[in-house]
Amino acid sequence: MKDRNELELELSYGPTGRPLPEFPEPTPLDSHGPARIISMVNQKGGVGKTTSVINLGAALAEYGRRVLLVDLDPQGALSAGTGVNPYDLDVTVYNLLLEREHDIRDVIQETGTENMDVLPANIDLSAAEVQLVNEVAREMALARVLRPVVDDYDVIIIDCQPSLGLLTVNALAASRGVIIPLEAEYFALRGVALLVETIEKVQDRINPALEIDGILITMFDPRTLHAREVCARVVEAFDDKVFHSTINRTVKFPDASVAAEPIISFASSTKGADAYRQLARELIARGSAA
Ligand SMILES: Nc1ncnc2c1ncn2[C@@H]1O[C@H](COP(=O)(O)OP(=O)(O)O)[C@@H](O)[C@H]1O
Ligand SMILES: [Mg+2]
Repeated sequence: MKDRNELELELSYGPTGRPLPEFPEPTPLDSHGPARIISMVNQKGGVGKTTSVINLGAALAEYGRRVLLVDLDPQGALSAGTGVNPYDLDVTVYNLLLEREHDIRDVIQETGTENMDVLPANIDLSAAEVQLVNEVAREMALARVLRPVVDDYDVIIIDCQPSLGLLTVNALAASRGVIIPLEAEYFALRGVALLVETIEKVQDRINPALEIDGILITMFDPRTLHAREVCARVVEAFDDKVFHSTINRTVKFPDASVAAEPIISFASSTKGADAYRQLARELIARGSAA
């Protein structure tokens, strides 16, 4: 039997092994914009980038924030996950990056979630990396694309492809913050040094205002010692930069992907949905979102 003090101690500690602060219900906004732009980046695939973009976006939208999601992955998983059929599109973010004759407002689509729009992509985008190389200010193409709508939104979240190539550098150049999702598995930290180095290069050369908003631990199974150890290692390495909010591994996420809906609406009262709501509140409490 645990005595009362032990229990109380346990209750006040969060999944990352640190005391868990309360993140207050965000106050409603009475005006909107300009947006803070955040990139979701990890050059490893399958760590929960797209899932986090959709569900953090949907949670912020639920709190009344105007949200634009930007698909910057030629796989188009974000577009598909928000109900857009990427094959039906003539004009996507690809055309905006490389051609001048389009209006971004004609390309942005509403999603099934109120207050949340998406700038879609499809496989066309896979050519952009090579084609951008010959452009003037090739790292600034996405910043230029987004500029006309920055005042229309409170938060813009960019879903990056699993690489540190020119598209991801474009995302970092356009952003104020970076969220790094890390899967709670051994080797999760492998590759993160290179990612941090890339972020520092962008800070140095193109975008001094860029900052790491936080490390988000995803696919966490709090019942396994293994996952808790990985979590402890990440906190050791990144300290305060690790979000108190963590995302558990649950089959609801793949289910929601199939339904092309955020878990926030697909399975609204589940722990997974609440985890992203908490992350949204934490982000707002830290001043990393409006
Ligand atoms: N917390 C989670 N628990 C279980 N499965 C998840 C979780 N987050 C994402 N997934 C699933 O894992 C796969 C990869 O996630 P995804 O968000 O597409 O990663 P990335 O964009 O980094 O490649 C998808 O099938 C997704 O549905
Ligand atoms: Mg993805």
